[in-house]
Amino acid sequence: MAVGIFDSGLGGLTVLDAVAKRLPEVPFVYYGDNAHAPYGVRNADDVYDLTTKGVQRLFDAGCDLVILACNTASAAALRRMQEAWVPEGKRVLGVFVPLIEALTERQWGDNSPPREVAVKHVALFATPATVSSRAFQRELAFRAIGVDVEAQPCGGVVDAIEQGDMILAEALVRSHVEALQRRMPTPEAAILGCTHYPLMQEVFQDALGPDVAVYSQANLVAESLADYLERHPDKLGPGTEPGFLTTGDPARVSNKATQFLRRKIEFRTA
Ligand code: DGL
Repeated sequence: MAVGIFDSGLGGLTVLDAVAKRLPEVPFVYYGDNAHAPYGVRNADDVYDLTTKGVQRLFDAGCDLVILACNTASAAALRRMQEAWVPEGKRVLGVFVPLIEALTERQWGDNSPPREVAVKHVALFATPATVSSRAFQRELAFRAIGVDVEAQPCGGVVDAIEQGDMILAEALVRSHVEALQRRMPTPEAAILGCTHYPLMQEVFQDALGPDVAVYSQANLVAESLADYLERHPDKLGPGTEPGFLTTGDPARVSNKATQFLRRKIEFRTA
């Protein structure tokens, strides 16, 4: 009954942590493509090739459902995968939709026409690839009208986190927030549109100020997944073993993951 969680590296652990707490009976298999992170500076074909390879590995580990806990892969590869690659009986879901549903106060599966919502000025922080895909704005436009989105490509942040250089990551976050505020001085809400960024959530909140509501994906995705599995229990795959797989150096990745999640995590080679 395993479910797969995919990310380019360590960021998806923020989602893994939340889904494992919400669904403690489900064995989750995590795949971090640390050898190829960051994805945010790669082109769409590259992201597609790496993502399909990782997701295939999770199917092979007994997962019938895989969550792309990576906005960059969700933005650059998911639609193409769903249209032409995902095999019969398997399912791959992204992480944008639960976030947008929360922002637009919608219930899962509410397909009514787009309508006005409370928030009008939204700051989006994401990787350069996610920002240039405009996938977030596209999904938002299906559900809401009159929302002004200002997107900031946060170059360097994922790389700094993957390297464990949190001082650099903090300095970069502050400078990206400043850059965004020059274009949108008073956003009402900020979206952390990369699963690595919750690891810097306090810095984002501090730089944005207490009046800005900061949305991050982990808990929202966990709720959506619980709801999805209740309606599709057949999507719990045959795998029974939880685990952590990486394309990077397992010792180094385990170390960082243990530091981030504050519990012992052991990765093995994917
Ligand atoms: N965590 C991925 C995301 O949500 C990071 C992407 C990257 O590797 O640049 O976009």
